[in-house]
Amino acid sequence: MACSKALQRSSAVLLRNVLPAQGQLAVRASSWWSGVQMGPPDVILGVTEAYKRDTNPKKINLGVGAYRDDSGKPFVLPSVKKAEQRLAQKQLDHEYSPIGGTAEFCKHSILLALGESSEHVANGLNATVQGISGTGALRIGGAFLASFFPGPKDIYLPTPSWGNHGPIFRHSGLNVKAYRYYDPSTCGFDFAGALEDLSKIPEKSIVLLHACAHNPTGVDPKPEQWAEMSALIKKRNLFPFFDMAYQGFASGDVDKDALAVREFLRDGHQIALAQSFAKNMGLYGERAGAFSLVTGSKDEADRTMSQIKILIRPMYSNPPIHGARLVAEILGDKSLRQEWLGDVKLMADRIISVRSSLRNNLKELGSSRNWSHITDQIGMFCFTGMNQQQCERLSKEFSVYLTKDGRISMAGVTSKNVGYLAEAIHAVTK
Ligand SMILES: Cc1ncc(COP(=O)(O)O)c(C=O)c1O
Repeated sequence: MACSKALQRSSAVLLRNVLPAQGQLAVRASSWWSGVQMGPPDVILGVTEAYKRDTNPKKINLGVGAYRDDSGKPFVLPSVKKAEQRLAQKQLDHEYSPIGGTAEFCKHSILLALGESSEHVANGLNATVQGISGTGALRIGGAFLASFFPGPKDIYLPTPSWGNHGPIFRHSGLNVKAYRYYDPSTCGFDFAGALEDLSKIPEKSIVLLHACAHNPTGVDPKPEQWAEMSALIKKRNLFPFFDMAYQGFASGDVDKDALAVREFLRDGHQIALAQSFAKNMGLYGERAGAFSLVTGSKDEADRTMSQIKILIRPMYSNPPIHGARLVAEILGDKSLRQEWLGDVKLMADRIISVRSSLRNNLKELGSSRNWSHITDQIGMFCFTGMNQQQCERLSKEFSVYLTKDGRISMAGVTSKNVGYLAEAIHAVTK
């Protein structure tokens, strides 16, 4: 008895010493997270935040890489609206998707990339899974290569590349290196520099290629340049990993935009491929994308597929279903697919037309600069060639928001704001 009273007393003292009194939690000397430092804000989201705070009615956001219609509003594709109605009528359940996504989604995705008559697909050479959009597809690819790639775990990115490529592949466990791509003196492709660097990359390394509409520069190799790069990459025994986030969005034609991927396969490469339906179907938040390996045999495709699923399972178990259902509904129906191809062309054509309009406006204002790259570049982005100071002036003096590297999202340019934008650009580049 005396013993248990002493025990109660001592545990009360212990608790008083260990637990802070009510209201003292906030001033506790050390917390689990006291060593965590504030990280830098995301560059693109920072641009949007600054834009939102600005009260100037003429303000323009050219930071975000999402399509806008000519009124500057998000665009839900009419074909996607139809597919949503059809899905609603089907009253589908919300069961889990298979680990790699549905077979239907995967089949349509890879056929869109390689072409309906692809022999690689007909012969079962592809291992295709749904990814959490393009980012997730790249991450799955990174994880697979970090575990199974038989060469050095080095991936070479074009300079510059999409800002998330480096973090994705480092996070996957690959070493991230670079090859020359963009030539600031011409605002175009540094073909000679790219060839020289590719020819020096150690054999059996991985090379990342933007299949079309290179982000952030909007600069794509010409077909004959792709052919030369393909031959060199083959000769050097390098492994090509294509990121195709903008199929159809660049030229308005899904087959034309898949030219590089198909050319490499014709040349006998085995490839990795990340696809996204964020841009070409406007399914940004639905996170529908695909990762594929095109392998040497059906048996290899089956074996790699089994390992890809094993990698996915502890990451997120299985992918979201709604966006993938929309993609399968659209690509699996002849008339809806046709309608979607029209929607893609409409988006691409609007971007192409505001490019011309911006260039013409700058010329009419008397700009002595050569702005031909605005129309030579392709896809969502234009690398204007403006320096950091000019970009800062654009934001401060004209409420035009963009990243400091001079990249503008053409999707934010409309027939109504293009005149004001040209005046602002001319004023800071005079
Ligand atoms: C080059 C490139 N790859 C991949 C992505 C992935 O996008 P998401 O994850 O939204 O499909 C993007 C998006 O901006 C991109 O520009």
